[in-house]
Amino acid sequence: MNTKEYFGTGAIQNISEILKSINSKNIFLVRGKSSYETSGAEKLLEEILKWYNVNYFSDFTENPKLTDVIKGMDSFIETQSDTVLAVGGGSVIDIAKSVNVLSYQTNSPEQILKGESEIVRKGKPLIAVPTTSGAGSEATHFAVVYSGDKKYSLAHEYILPDYSVIDPQLTFSLPKEITATSGIDAFSQAMESYWNVNANEESRKYSTEAIQLIFDSLSKAVNEGDEESRINMSRAAHLAGKAINITKTTAPHALSYFMTSHFGVSHGQAVCISLGEFLEFNFEVTEDDINEGISTGEIKAKLLELAKLCDCKDIDELKRNINELIISAGLKTKLSELNIRGEESIKLISENVNTERLKNNPRKLTKENIVKILSNIS
Ligand SMILES: [Fe+2]
Repeated sequence: MNTKEYFGTGAIQNISEILKSINSKNIFLVRGKSSYETSGAEKLLEEILKWYNVNYFSDFTENPKLTDVIKGMDSFIETQSDTVLAVGGGSVIDIAKSVNVLSYQTNSPEQILKGESEIVRKGKPLIAVPTTSGAGSEATHFAVVYSGDKKYSLAHEYILPDYSVIDPQLTFSLPKEITATSGIDAFSQAMESYWNVNANEESRKYSTEAIQLIFDSLSKAVNEGDEESRINMSRAAHLAGKAINITKTTAPHALSYFMTSHFGVSHGQAVCISLGEFLEFNFEVTEDDINEGISTGEIKAKLLELAKLCDCKDIDELKRNINELIISAGLKTKLSELNIRGEESIKLISENVNTERLKNNPRKLTKENIVKILSNIS
């Protein structure tokens, strides 16, 4: 299965043709509470959507919970919608994917989330329209759902959107803080895809370009908000999404979910905080702690190649540049700056790591390693 992609300023107009081509009549429009209007999407879609019956759904929280997904499923089924149109950030596109696919399974959402039963049917055609430059959810075949403090990831080719429409103009009025947190999420995803045990030539082509674009444009997009750097960030976030669609993510994402669910740290901030440490940690991999799927020689050579591509002479300089990038976007590099303090907090995070993503990390992690990495950024 492939996603049909539309990219560029004005790309949103293609939705008219897409809706006609799939014979839509009754649209389930999943939208952010305020971003739908502030991004300009509402105005741009007005002319296109006036010919259709549109059922709106925005009754969910950031980092959507299972209870939100179930609410969405009730409404989706009740309205008998024939098309899903998701317009918003990563959370909006993720919940649209979950609602759509889970509504068409024979087993309950709980059973599927816990991995007790499989996804066996596809949902309705889904059109994903990002209004941030971050998660790249429009390009991936997975969706995050929280239940309690736990994070689950649905993954299946049926979850991949049928259409992705990336129109950078929807990000032109994005507030500074969201530009920063979503952009640094894209950066972390590209880095983690690059050093991933599942990386291949295609994924590294996407991740390398995303990393270079973000080094060039993130700080400018946040601090000046000019159109050129925002267009670059839109492209970078989409490429990072395509990269993790092949590889998935690694340790920084695995450590981040509990920081988000328990300490309320935004996703982008939570993932980037350990990125520099993991770059160094992964570069120091030995034959004794290499994970399956990659060799020590390959990962070291690839990381050095990446440093060169980012105009750095070595891994130390790349690590410094990553931390400078985070700070230049107005984000933090220390846990204490996020009010996460003390050994107890570090212990709590290390005990609640989402182990699913750790096997994608090139270097195996022990509990001691995780505590050490968290202490280095405390
Ligand atoms: Fe992410």
